[in-house]
Parts: sequence; C-alpha cells; structure tokens
Amino acid sequence: MADGNTLWYGRFEGNPNQALRELNDSLPFDQRMFREDIAGSRAHVEMLCEVGLLNESELSEILDALDVVEKEISGGTFQWAATDEDIHTAVERRATEITAAAAKIHTARSRNDQVANDVRLVVLSEIDSLTRIVHSLVQTLLHRAEEAHQEGLYLPGYTHLQRAQPVALAHHLAAYCWMFLRDIDRLAETRRRTDVSVLGAGALAGTSLPIKPASVADKLGFSDVFNNSLDAVSDRDFVADLLYSLTVVGIHLSKLGEELCLWASSEFNYVELDDEFATGSSMMPQKKNPDVAELARGKAGRLLGNLTGFLATQKGLPLTYNKDLQEDKEPLFDSCDTIRLTTIALTGMIESLKFNGHSMSASADSQEIAATDLADFLVQRGLPFREAHSVIAGLVRESLDSDAELTDLVNNHPDLGPEAARLLQPGVGWARRNSHGGGGPEAVTEQLAALKAHVESIS
Ligand code: ARG
Repeated sequence: MADGNTLWYGRFEGNPNQALRELNDSLPFDQRMFREDIAGSRAHVEMLCEVGLLNESELSEILDALDVVEKEISGGTFQWAATDEDIHTAVERRATEITAAAAKIHTARSRNDQVANDVRLVVLSEIDSLTRIVHSLVQTLLHRAEEAHQEGLYLPGYTHLQRAQPVALAHHLAAYCWMFLRDIDRLAETRRRTDVSVLGAGALAGTSLPIKPASVADKLGFSDVFNNSLDAVSDRDFVADLLYSLTVVGIHLSKLGEELCLWASSEFNYVELDDEFATGSSMMPQKKNPDVAELARGKAGRLLGNLTGFLATQKGLPLTYNKDLQEDKEPLFDSCDTIRLTTIALTGMIESLKFNGHSMSASADSQEIAATDLADFLVQRGLPFREAHSVIAGLVRESLDSDAELTDLVNNHPDLGPEAARLLQPGVGWARRNSHGGGGPEAVTEQLAALKAHVESIS
C-alpha cells in the first residue's frame, strides 16, 4: 500500500510521481485561504455536533485544534508537510496530529464542497475590501473635482483626441467617479450571487448522513444555501463574475491612467506629478515619468487575460467537480491583488498631483473650440442648425486658409458680429453649457451635489 500521507492513499499501491505532485498540488497558492478553510471547518463540525455525529467533547477538542492550526499558520510556525496537497489536506492533517477526534472533521464533507465554499468566502471578503479601496478612489476624485470647481478650472473636452468643446475640469474628473460607482455596483451584484453556502453538497450528490447545510450557512454568515449539490460543487460562475467586475475596474483605471500620462507630458502639461508618485530615468536626468499611470494602463491586460483564461478553463466542463476547477484560484488572487495595489497607487497619485490651470485654459480658449457656440448663436436667431454649422465651418476654413483671425471674421460677418465674437473670448465658452449633466459651472454644481450624495450613501 502507498504511504499514508495523502487523504486518498488507501486505494493505492504505489506512491504518486513527483511530476504529478508538482502539477496537482495547489498548496503553494491556496494556503492563502487558510482562514476561510478553518472557518468552514468550524461551522461544519458545530453542525455535526448538532445532528449527533460528534459529541460535545469531540467538538471542543476539534475546535481547540483548529484554533491552534490557525495560530500556527498566521504566526508562521506551521510546519508544512511535503505531502500536504492543498490547504484542506494541511489543516486536516495537522488538526488530526493535535487530536485524534479530528479524524471525524471530514464526516459528510468532501474537498469539492469545501473548496467551493472557501472560494466563495474569499470572494466575499475580497469584494468587501476592494469596494472600500475603489470607494476611496472615488472620494479622492470627488474631492479634487470639488476643489477644481471652486477654482473655476476648465480644459478642452476631447473627441478623437482632438479638442472638441471646453468643459469644467470637475466635470471631467466626475465622469470617472460615475464609472467607478458603477463598478462598485457591479461588485455588489457579484457579491449577492456569491453569497450562497455550498457546504453540505458533499462530493457531488449530498450524503446519507443527517446534516443541516442551512445551519452551516447561518454560522458562516451566508444569506442563502445551495439547492442543487451538482451545481454547488461544479460551477465557478461567481469567480468569473468577479474577474469580469475587476476587469471593468481595470479598464476604467487604464483609461484614467492614459489620460494622466497624456496630461503629464510636456505637450499637454496639464498636471505636475508629486515626486512621491513619479519615477526618474537612469540615463536622462530631466525625466519625471508617470509610471503609476502607465502601470494602471498596462495592468488592464493581465486582468483581461485572467478573465478570458478562466472562462476558457470552465468551457465544456462536464458536471461535476473536475480538477480543472483548481485553476480558479491563481487568476482570482492575481486580479484581486492587481486591483488592490493599482487602485491604491493611482489614488495616491491623484491626491498629490497639481493641476496646471493655465495650460488647460490656454488650450480650452483656442478659438476654433468655440465653433459649436457660434453655430448655436445662429440657431438662437432662427437658422436651422445644419445651415448654421455650414456657415461657421466656412469661417473656420477661411481663417485656417488665410491669416485672418476667426474673431475678426466673426466680427465682420453680417449674421454674427461683436455679440457672437464675445463667445470667442477666454473663459466664455465653457461657462455656457449648463444643460442637464453638461460641462458648464451651474450644471456641474448640481452634478457634484448628486455625486456627493451617491458617494456618501455607500460609505
Ligand atoms: N485543491 C483542490 C481545488 O482547488 C481541492 C479539491 C480537490 N478535490 C478533489 N476531488 N481532488 O479544487
């Protein structure tokens, strides 16, 4: 018979091959779930005692042993054995060394329902912590938007990365707040679907023993309990949900990162990065690089890779548990860690950077950017918009083709004149666009109040 160190040795004559061990073992990455695994075991053995499968003294010995195991692992004194295949094996092996009663821990339980439950607990706690981190980014953006609004800062809004129409800087920053608030909402949705206990599903089909899965769910703080044991052990759609939700956060971070890279360039010069959140060059002494923003842009790639990779892993898996499912953990942990660190760093960068209002307004006050306002001027005098557009486009072309200033052409135009020319003056255009949700000061004041209320309702 094979040596007695694996959970399944009894059936085998030979020992596992080294390559199998290395491929099969998940301990190197799943040991980070030890708290969730131990919490699951506590709830499970308490339930076993309730239904008479453990007596009180066995229960208290097992609970004490689990306390010791938890302390050893968190204190770094736990002796991992070469044969610990995964965190579930390691915890049970050590608990059984501490008390023989722990040989009953695995009654009416399989690693299949155990691991699915552990991963659900991990996802729930990651969602809680990542929500707080994204929320704090939103608070920082909102705070910077309120400041910018008080100072009356404005910049060109862009389409196709061409100057389009001027907007309040606060409007631009608030746009990202709304994106991240939707991300928080997506995380909350994912949380709701993940909040289902699956312990008690057994290996795949439940058990003949008189267990109470609802009691386990209750003890672990889950809101609901599984209805189908096959589904419970085999699906990881909640992991994919989280990977998707985090990918969208990452995509939003990458868009913001790209804008900060542009804004920090000498060509734009809209922001100056604080030294604490910028890097230098080993060769070019003049450089101050926006690495945090570049990485925020770049990390979206791995988040997307984790999502698509894991979706591909799940595709075509027959019911129920298959070892392929062990591939859920590395992308899950990596995406959580990536979003955690990237969001914290980008928040610090945004908190500490300086906006260069002069460069922003200089770009926003360029004359062509007022073209829509000139067309609107004609519309207010009864011209159909299409004709107004063509009149103004003609003037813009004329000013580009000749040396004539657009202001002079507008001034001298019979349908426009000095009143229209005032629209081209610095700081005028951005302040006029106050339709609902627009980029002018009054609309932004209203928007920021709504945003603030939304942000506060989350904390
Ligand atoms: N390490 C495994 C995983 O992550 C635990 C479940 C093992 N189950 C099994 N039937 N071998 O999925």
